[in-house]
Amino acid sequence: MVTRVQKINPDSFMAEELEEACKILKSGGLVAFPTETVYGLGGDAFNPLASSKIYKAKGRPSDNPLIVHIASMEDLYRVADGITDSGLKLAEKFWPGPLTIIFKKKEEVPLSTTGGLGTVAVRMPSHKVARELIRQSGVCIAAPSANKSGRPSPVRAEHVIEDLAGRIDMVIDGGGTGIGIESSIVDASGSEIVILRPGYITKDMLLGVVDKVTTDPAIESRIPGEGITAKAPGMKYRHYAPEGELLIVEGSQSAVAGRINTLVEEKEKEGYKTAVIATDETKNLYKCKIVKSIGSRKNEASIAAGLYDILREMDYLGAQYIYSESFDNDILGGAVMNRMIKAAAYHIVQA
Ligand code: TXA
Ligand code: MG
Repeated sequence: MVTRVQKINPDSFMAEELEEACKILKSGGLVAFPTETVYGLGGDAFNPLASSKIYKAKGRPSDNPLIVHIASMEDLYRVADGITDSGLKLAEKFWPGPLTIIFKKKEEVPLSTTGGLGTVAVRMPSHKVARELIRQSGVCIAAPSANKSGRPSPVRAEHVIEDLAGRIDMVIDGGGTGIGIESSIVDASGSEIVILRPGYITKDMLLGVVDKVTTDPAIESRIPGEGITAKAPGMKYRHYAPEGELLIVEGSQSAVAGRINTLVEEKEKEGYKTAVIATDETKNLYKCKIVKSIGSRKNEASIAAGLYDILREMDYLGAQYIYSESFDNDILGGAVMNRMIKAAAYHIVQA
């Protein structure tokens, strides 16, 4: 299969530019498209054949459910049932935007889309291309992140092409995505709101709208397994990983730099290619040929936005051992650390 690439300027485009993509979606094909978080790999949420194509193209385990992307509140009632007051309040406040809300599913939504679950994850993206694609096609779009399973999520069309060229019908190239990490996920299908995946919408922001919010304990776990199973099936897998081995080093700034410099020296002596992930404020502390800044500690959004770019860059550079500073849990409510820990396959040391 040849993957067509359609360039679109999100700030100024015409309906015709999305016509081909709409045709593909309506006939059960796959189109990758930009959202404000990461690129999604879209197919018709009501077509079991389309969702099975998504799993196949990504190499994704079929028990890992997909997020259904909608363009209006009417769409919500097409896919979700028993909509709770608290869930509706969150939707009204944060949609369109980077929040995914889990409700009981409408019977018509195929189990292949929801990984066999009786619930459905729904999100109304704010990205103009994403919303217009859903609206114009009339298709509720099931879309996981458009990366090969296990790889860092794509924040540019080039990342999608790298992972999925030849496996999907089309990529809409709308440039960089902005936020750069996936949506926050909350479960609103029960009596209280539970955060299943941290993201740009933080617990404090949710608490501005509903009285009680809890966090799935599996999110905060720093030890894999540990008897806790993540409630979002996708959170249990190794994920976001670069090809090299990533180690996170925690501690005071000087202790971290000292420890990383020692590790770099050791590995370089053994003949390995090493790299360091630092920040604008700390990048000069390292004695390594490759030191990359993820962003500035003074601007937490820049760190979130830099995360997947830098993890992919490590692969382009051929880094075999990658040492990273740790990012505080207050950066987007622990969202960045949550992804980093998985990318590092839980390898963290104290300096
Ligand atoms: O920002 C985003 O959310 C991006 C863009 C494309 O919208 N999408 C995304 O999808 O990150 P994906 O498939 O990479 O992550 C979806 C997560 C997985 O961890 C999955 O297990 C969880 O959502 N999920 C989906 N439906 C669920 C459900 N019914 N119950 C619990 N977890 C669910
Ligand atoms: Mg993903």
